[in-house]
Amino acid sequence: MILLAAISLPLGYTSSKEYAELEWPIDILITIVWVAYAIVFFGTVMKRNTKHIYVGNWFFGAFIITVAILHIVNNLELPVSFTKSYSLYGGATDAMVQWWYGHNAVGFFLTAGFLGMMYYFVPKQAERPVYSYRLSIVHFWALITLYIWAGPHHLHYTALPDWAQSLGMVMSLILLAPSWGGMINGMMTLSGAWHKLRSDPILRFLVVSLAFYGMSTFEGPMMAIKTVNALSHYTDWTIGHVHAGALGWVAMISIGALYHMIPKVFGREQMHSIGLINAHFWLATIGTVLYIASMWVNGIAQGLMWRAVNEDGTLTYSFVETLVASHPGFVVRLVGGRSSSAACS
Ligand code: HEM
Ligand code: HEM
Repeated sequence: MILLAAISLPLGYTSSKEYAELEWPIDILITIVWVAYAIVFFGTVMKRNTKHIYVGNWFFGAFIITVAILHIVNNLELPVSFTKSYSLYGGATDAMVQWWYGHNAVGFFLTAGFLGMMYYFVPKQAERPVYSYRLSIVHFWALITLYIWAGPHHLHYTALPDWAQSLGMVMSLILLAPSWGGMINGMMTLSGAWHKLRSDPILRFLVVSLAFYGMSTFEGPMMAIKTVNALSHYTDWTIGHVHAGALGWVAMISIGALYHMIPKVFGREQMHSIGLINAHFWLATIGTVLYIASMWVNGIAQGLMWRAVNEDGTLTYSFVETLVASHPGFVVRLVGGRSSSAACS
């Protein structure tokens, strides 16, 4: 499928839906793969030896089911040839379905599955039980109930009905609560074990990822406020937010989990070099902070320059002037991005 994507997209075969660009035959292949994945996962859960299903698996289960539903509903389309199809939805409805999909891809692809990992690897690495099991259950139900309503914040000031935009904004603000509930539950798992952070860079990866998760899920609801979004939309601020989540949270929790798992898989005491993990940690953290901070500065500068008007109502700045003003930020992002990816390799 990756190969088909790499061939078909450059040739211009696209359904033109963001994060769902692939044409219908590839969509069907994705569905088959995902169903196979679901069978493996739920089959394993069914064959389990213990009665209880640990909360990490609830998050994983929700992630698999919801992504399947999102993929199928958003990709319902009418094929007119092998390489071309038209969405079943029209106009604003199409946009709403697309961002219901897009936002919940963030919520279930980039969040729920990784929260499942968090609930397993943070207690394991800290060698402490999860801070509050009750909170983790509340966290689970609140998160999966609330995420699904926040999609319209991607469509502020569009043809989407105003009430739907405002509802999306309110639901996004409410979403702060379950997100932070989970973040606090993960962080507090370290109570009594904070000293381990001094000597254990793997634990540091896991905890810093939670800090980025907390930061991006505070920033997201703020950006969902319509007046804030009027400034942030289309600017690099969104890109900064994306990477606070994608790089700070998703990548760092994955790296922490991998470092925990790899020695176990190969039957070793620990990773080859703790010093290198330490170097990786600092390069990744500093790189991500540089990426995010430069995009904040760029985003706010772009937003303010685009909306600046002269007394006679003409625009103060041309587009290319905003691009020139963004150049230093792009250089800082280049340095930060290189630092992060060099660290990973
Ligand atoms: C409470 C949680 C969150 C809320 C309410 C939220 C809200 C928002 C808002 C308002 C935007 C800007 C929409 C626009 O102006 O176009 C946005 C964009 C985005 N967010 Fe979040 N966010 C949250 C958490 C996250 C997390 C944890 C991640 C990643 C792991 C993430 C990934 C993204 C992505 C990829 C986009 C860009 C979508 C595009 O391509 O336009 N968000 N989010
Ligand atoms: C060192 C690592 C990374 C670097 C240097 C990097 C760099 C970039 C750049 C330059 C863009 C284009 C932004 C623009 O339009 O100006 C981008 C977009 C994006 N990246 Fe990354 N990225 C990294 C890691 C990741 C990871 C790990 C994820 C997901 C887990 C991710 C998800 C995304 C998404 C969803 C977008 C589209 C955002 C939008 O258009 O709203 N990135 N990235």
